[in-house]
Amino acid sequence: TTIALLFGGRSGEHGISCVTAGGILGAIDRTRYDVIAIGITRAGRWVHVSDDAEAWTMVGGLAPEVGDDGPEVLLPSRAVGPGEKAALRVIRDGCVEPLAEVDVVLPLLHGPYGEDGTVQGALELLDIPYVGSGVLASALCMDKGATKAALARAGIATARGLTITEERWAREAPHVERTVASSLALPWFVKPARAGSSLGVTKVSDPSELEHAIKTALAEDPRILIEEGVPGREVECGVLQAGPGEEPRTTIPGEVRIGEDLDFYDYESKYFGKGTVEIQVPAQLSDALLEEVRDVAARAFAVLRLEGLARVDVFVTEDGTVLVNEVNTMPGFTPFSMFPVLWRNMGLDYTALITDLLELART
Ligand code: DAL
Ligand code: MG
Repeated sequence: TTIALLFGGRSGEHGISCVTAGGILGAIDRTRYDVIAIGITRAGRWVHVSDDAEAWTMVGGLAPEVGDDGPEVLLPSRAVGPGEKAALRVIRDGCVEPLAEVDVVLPLLHGPYGEDGTVQGALELLDIPYVGSGVLASALCMDKGATKAALARAGIATARGLTITEERWAREAPHVERTVASSLALPWFVKPARAGSSLGVTKVSDPSELEHAIKTALAEDPRILIEEGVPGREVECGVLQAGPGEEPRTTIPGEVRIGEDLDFYDYESKYFGKGTVEIQVPAQLSDALLEEVRDVAARAFAVLRLEGLARVDVFVTEDGTVLVNEVNTMPGFTPFSMFPVLWRNMGLDYTALITDLLELART
């Protein structure tokens, strides 16, 4: 069986995706799978790159990047027929050469142009099996405003918030500021609607900081979200698709605890060791609350029509209410990332987890 790993990509989470790929390249069962590594440059060029895990690790505190020097990868130009594999080719020295016949694509892409249904749509067009959610669920979960609306319709609670467009901000900024101040309790979290890893997110504790926070989020996406900060605990639950007609499988949730030295769990604290962050698995919650989080995560998985895998991030308030913060259709996936750590705690180790997902995509 031949697997194409797709990573890097055009989003701000390019480097994180490369580190995830490094983790998977180091652990995927090579007795079972042949692996083709395809990097997508920040500019969006697909290139054949090294499948050596060492090539995709953090060096000197810097995340790796897909370089532009590899041979360009060509996708098939027609849908793969029944019983056929996807024949990938490369352009080398101006000549087109065969690269590999691929059974399954593992899109390890985070953020827009990868986790948002775009790549999934391309693979659907070509009938190439791939790991994870389809077009609709990927697109829906990429957009935090759309996710909120879909969850609300299903009776799943989220933090109170407002969606604002660049165009509205340009037209009536003072009115937007007054609306936020009168309808949402401080602190506020200002977020791009479609981004990940907390890129472009600011915590606002004083209304005078709102304008700057909005501009920061608008730099990532013309649509942004302003939400009420939820006092409570930050808890994450892993979900895997089960067999047909079965409930999704969930993990015992884990918790992210941040120290007083951090404002919130931001990009630098997620990946670059800023401040005090402690990952606790299982989360220190009552059994009833652990069950409640798993139930909410499984319901969200079904409502949002997720496939394959997801990490559902929630807040648990002091009075025991579970609010969904966001849903990641391709969560960070290094051996130390929350999603694999949660599954290891359930008895499914990293390599077995990768095998599970690949086999799920083939059926
Ligand atoms: N968006 C990052 C990769 C995560 O949710 O894990
Ligand atoms: Mg995310």
